[in-house]
Amino acid sequence: QPCPGRCICQNVAPTLTMLCAKTGLLFVPPAIDRRVVELRLTDNFIAAVRRRDFANMTSLVHLTLSRNTIGQVAAGAFADLRALRALHLDSNRLAEVRGDQLRGLGNLRHLILGNNQIRKVESAAFDAFLSTVEDLDLSYNNLEALPWEAVGQMVNLNTLTLDHNLIDHIAEGTFVQLHKLVRLDMTSNRLHKLPPDGLFLRSQGGGPKPPTPLTVSFGGNPLHCNCELLWLRRLTREDDLETCATPEHLTDRYFWSIPEEEFLCEPPLITRQAGGRALVVEGQAVSLRCRAVGDPEPVVHWVAPDGRLLGNSSRTRVRGDGTLDVTITTLRDSGTFTCIASNAAGEATAPVEVCVVPLHHHHHH
Ligand SMILES: *[C@@H]1O[C@H](CO)[C@@H](O)[C@H](O)[C@H]1NC(C)=O
Ligand SMILES: *[C@@H]1O[C@H](CO)[C@@H](O)[C@H](O)[C@H]1NC(C)=O
Repeated sequence: QPCPGRCICQNVAPTLTMLCAKTGLLFVPPAIDRRVVELRLTDNFIAAVRRRDFANMTSLVHLTLSRNTIGQVAAGAFADLRALRALHLDSNRLAEVRGDQLRGLGNLRHLILGNNQIRKVESAAFDAFLSTVEDLDLSYNNLEALPWEAVGQMVNLNTLTLDHNLIDHIAEGTFVQLHKLVRLDMTSNRLHKLPPDGLFLRSQGGGPKPPTPLTVSFGGNPLHCNCELLWLRRLTREDDLETCATPEHLTDRYFWSIPEEEFLCEPPLITRQAGGRALVVEGQAVSLRCRAVGDPEPVVHWVAPDGRLLGNSSRTRVRGDGTLDVTITTLRDSGTFTCIASNAAGEATAPVEVCVVPLHHHHHH
């Protein structure tokens, strides 16, 4: 089979290599020998990966599409690449990774997606290689969130590179099964806190029998240095330059030089509540206010007169600001509702008396 365009093809049995870097390609050439093992299409102008581009390339081990203008990847575009170990798609224009785009890559070890414009990764996107992937690079994208549950299943993951995104949250327990992780880069994201995780204990070295040494980087995040980060401060680390963003009195101070006693939380204080007693006609709606301050931000729960914890249901709703709405009151709602505000530092409660007036008293004349 001829070598397409200005590509360089090397056939040193059993390895067929095709190098088409900087050859002005606008699409993946159709005349590629389907037995190719290594295919490099770096520095071209390929804008889309079509379903047929890599069809039948069951021997392909290494595919590089870095530095093109790829904005579209067809569903199943890589579905025949059963042998593929490394896929480089960095420095392109991808805006999302959908569940069907990376289907079939059951042997993938390295997935490099850095330097795109990715805002969203669907939860099924990595399903094909959850147990094989070793190196996942999503740095320099626009990610606000990741499918953490999927990441938590990548048991062979070695390096996770997520720096320079907009991530503001890491799900607790994500790293529990990632025993092979040696590098986690979360630099320059929007994290206010990190979930306590055995992973970080591993990163402090020392210990009786140090397992795999681990490097965790999280500088350049707006850390909120209250008691919830005390566990992290208690780890021994050296030469790290992370700073705190809030609370105000710790702004810009070096995380590792702040004394433990200054990592403080404030227990909840209920500042605004329903006026002690509410009168409502049976069947009508009533809203009970309960607002609380504290550090960290308290979570508000409501308990009904019969002791049930209330949530969102067909008849009740707890709003984000702590207000309880009972949309249709019944006589059984008469009694004391209790607002409970809680955070890591403690709990505050406030009782609210509700008196439901029976409906028939109004209609009997
Ligand atoms: C892939 O193989 C199938 C079956 O051999 C064939 O029908 C099809 O044309 C091939 N596709 C390409 C793009 O080579
Ligand atoms: C209940 O629904 C409201 C929006 O209607 C939402 O803001 C709130 O978080 C929900 N509460 C719970 C406990 O799911």
